[in-house]
Amino acid sequence: MPFTAAEVEKLVEDAESKIGSCSSLQGLTELRSQLMGKKSELSGFLRELGSLPKEQRELSGQLLNAAKKTLEDAVSVRRDALQELSRSQSLQRHRTDVTLPGVKFPSGSLHPVTLVERDMVNFFQSLGYSIEDGPEVDTDYNNFGALNFPDDHPARDTQDTFFVSGDQVLRTHTSNVQVRAMRGKTPPFRFVAPGRVYRHDLDPTHYPMFHQIEAFCVGSDVTFADLKGTLYAFARHLFGADVKLRFRAHFFPFTEPSAEMDFWWQDRWLEWGGCGMIHPTVLRNCEIDPQKYQGFAFGMGIDRTAMLKFGIPNIHRLFEGDIRILGQLK
Ligand code: DAH
Repeated sequence: MPFTAAEVEKLVEDAESKIGSCSSLQGLTELRSQLMGKKSELSGFLRELGSLPKEQRELSGQLLNAAKKTLEDAVSVRRDALQELSRSQSLQRHRTDVTLPGVKFPSGSLHPVTLVERDMVNFFQSLGYSIEDGPEVDTDYNNFGALNFPDDHPARDTQDTFFVSGDQVLRTHTSNVQVRAMRGKTPPFRFVAPGRVYRHDLDPTHYPMFHQIEAFCVGSDVTFADLKGTLYAFARHLFGADVKLRFRAHFFPFTEPSAEMDFWWQDRWLEWGGCGMIHPTVLRNCEIDPQKYQGFAFGMGIDRTAMLKFGIPNIHRLFEGDIRILGQLK
């Protein structure tokens, strides 16, 4: 007999011990082909089977097949164990310690002017006003002419206009939206228009870009009392139920009569904005018949309100983009 049962047993024993101590999946694949591949001792034995006398062949065949199955099983058990080990090692490596303090990402916030502007617009929407938008670069006509500023009138100077080119200006107020929104529309309607405006003016209380909100309401029975009622409701919404307002007669080319209004804040009067009944000429310029319809309008700065609400003393702080300051104003 070319191989003995003891040799096969020894082969199996050695192989099992190698398999058992193999420490990597790749090593195991290599080991398997060493132990069971074409050049392995076991394959050698299997090849010898053919040369055995018939009566030995069956028994030896069974012996070798059993040996082969034992080795296959051992490899498969080891493979499972190594796979399990590598899985648990990888889990361990990527383990998340949920008790560690988290990483804080800085969170953004809305700009104080945006917060106040949204609050104002929401208030007017609750009164049934629609939001109207207008361009920041507009024609001299929409910013001045249609609003009844005569050519070469000194009132244009009071607005410290930035001229862009030709008849284009940076709008000096949101009143340009009055002209754009009203033109050709049939009353009744009411609009609110917030936005950026520009004037050549720079000191601690002025900035060349600032924000205004404009509101106007046109219908067949609109009176100055409606204007005052609306402004009082608006002021109460912004500054509280006990707010005091003061109206001073004033001049604007686009309203008649006109007034400036102030509100009482802490211990003094603060200028709040301008208002009045829309001038018949402005209505006519917008193709609205002033015999049939009247309207009121008012406009005020938004930035001032944001400064009061957030206790910011200098308007420049609002627009310098200093994230440390803006971060305090959430
Ligand atoms: N446009 C004016 C300004 O910027 C403010 C203003 C006054 C708006 C009276 C109005 C108004 O709508 O009726 O100074």
